[in-house]
Amino acid sequence: MTFDNLREYLNILEEKGWLKRIRVNVSSIYEIAEITNRICKSSGEALLFENVDRYDIPVVTNLFGSMERIKLALGYDRLEKLGEDFLSLSKFRLDNILKKLSSIKDIKRYMNSYPKVVKKAVCKEKIIYDVDLNRYPILKLWPKDAGRFITFPIVITKDPENDKINLGTYRMQVIDKDKTLIHWHVHKHGYKNYLKNLREKKKMEVAVVIGCDPVTMLCSVFPIPENIDDYFFIGFIRKKPLKIVKCETLDLYVPANSEIVLEGYVTDEVRLEGPFGDHTGYYSQEGYYPVFEIECITQRENPIYVASVTGKPPMEDAYIGKAVERIFLPFIKFLIPEIVDINIPIEGLFHNILIVSIKKQYPGHAKKVMFSLWGLEYLHLTKIIIVVDHDVNVHNWFDVWYAISTRVDPARDVVIIKNTPTDTLDHAASNLNLGSKMGIDATRKFKEEIGRDFPEEVEASEEIKRLVSKKWYEYFH
Ligand SMILES: Cc1cc2nc3c(=O)[nH]c(=O)nc-3n(C[C@H](O)[C@H](O)[C@H](O)COP(=O)(O)O)c2cc1C
Repeated sequence: MTFDNLREYLNILEEKGWLKRIRVNVSSIYEIAEITNRICKSSGEALLFENVDRYDIPVVTNLFGSMERIKLALGYDRLEKLGEDFLSLSKFRLDNILKKLSSIKDIKRYMNSYPKVVKKAVCKEKIIYDVDLNRYPILKLWPKDAGRFITFPIVITKDPENDKINLGTYRMQVIDKDKTLIHWHVHKHGYKNYLKNLREKKKMEVAVVIGCDPVTMLCSVFPIPENIDDYFFIGFIRKKPLKIVKCETLDLYVPANSEIVLEGYVTDEVRLEGPFGDHTGYYSQEGYYPVFEIECITQRENPIYVASVTGKPPMEDAYIGKAVERIFLPFIKFLIPEIVDINIPIEGLFHNILIVSIKKQYPGHAKKVMFSLWGLEYLHLTKIIIVVDHDVNVHNWFDVWYAISTRVDPARDVVIIKNTPTDTLDHAASNLNLGSKMGIDATRKFKEEIGRDFPEEVEASEEIKRLVSKKWYEYFH
């Protein structure tokens, strides 16, 4: 089961005891952030602040700050299954559709993945041309933040070359009552669309949704490959079409169930953005980002404002990152079948550390896997890759360190590559967006790799293990 709008999801969270209501008046400046930060580091519930300053709009934070809540939102208990299902649908398409679509259910699911255009929508209950962002409880999180930031926007743009729609969550700093900056990093799809519009000297249409059904919100963060239509992927997860409606002033479509929609344009004007207390736990650097001019706002009569609070991990984004790891593992295994499992640890902040286990088949295989991973979508930003054998549990740091300490000869097994693209938020990189990578081959070495056999690991025989297990009670009683 998936949810048709944000409210349905909030109701179920409350029923399950996974949402806390805060009725006392709180401030949108720092106070909500500090409360959310403490909850993220302890009990972890989603928070609904009913009375925020003088605003008549409630604020929700930490909506997806647990694996249970993300699984509930997506309607999958095992997130890998989502990736597996999508992959099998794509395989049907790659093969002979008629031969392989084994059941009516598959055809139905495929057809239901396409969005449905509707004429009436709750997000049009109010249409506002006298734009004033001061009417919304936009948060300021940390003392050195440059201002108020919209932290969980769904930024909708179109590729001018093929009209493909993209959804991406990129924070937005408010710089005027009708203007924000959009902080899309250079590797992101929103930025690519922006560059294409700039080259064609076009004013770029941008719609920004704040709060909508949870599948769409999560998909705005998921690294959906460039060639997959985001609305199709959302419909696929929902198992029913996403209803979309045309914007009032733009040739763009937004989810009909949206709480708030900002409609406007991005031109070639850029201004200094930041600093901002980021998900790395550090303030991210100031940088030039484009100005978004809002011409119209459409919204529900009584909207709910959704925000994400960033800071030292673990915060909400940590769980979304873990969900991404599980959902996209089947896609990665499809492309690199020797992979057994992957761990992108929360403390590695998505792009800094990745541990991968492989079924090693030939000398140098670990290095082949590193380079394959560095060749994939956003995994190309991964700073450190550690490759271990299939029998090492990538989720257990003891096992991983043990493999590193016993199977690595640094001069032979550590690869350093200079001047590669790095995450914009890698504060340690030598240059912005450009730094080095390290690969560590912590696999058992083949004879061809070290000129001798790798020693066997110490283990009791099965016979003695059975005997000791059988007599275990006797030894100590
Ligand atoms: C709460 C939150 C805030 C984010 N803010 C940004 C941001 O400011 N800039 C950015 O490039 N990515 C940001 N991201 C990550 C992107 O949303 C993510 O990389 C997504 O895949 C981008 O969409 P795209 O692949 O279609 O470009 C954020 C993620 C979360 C969960």
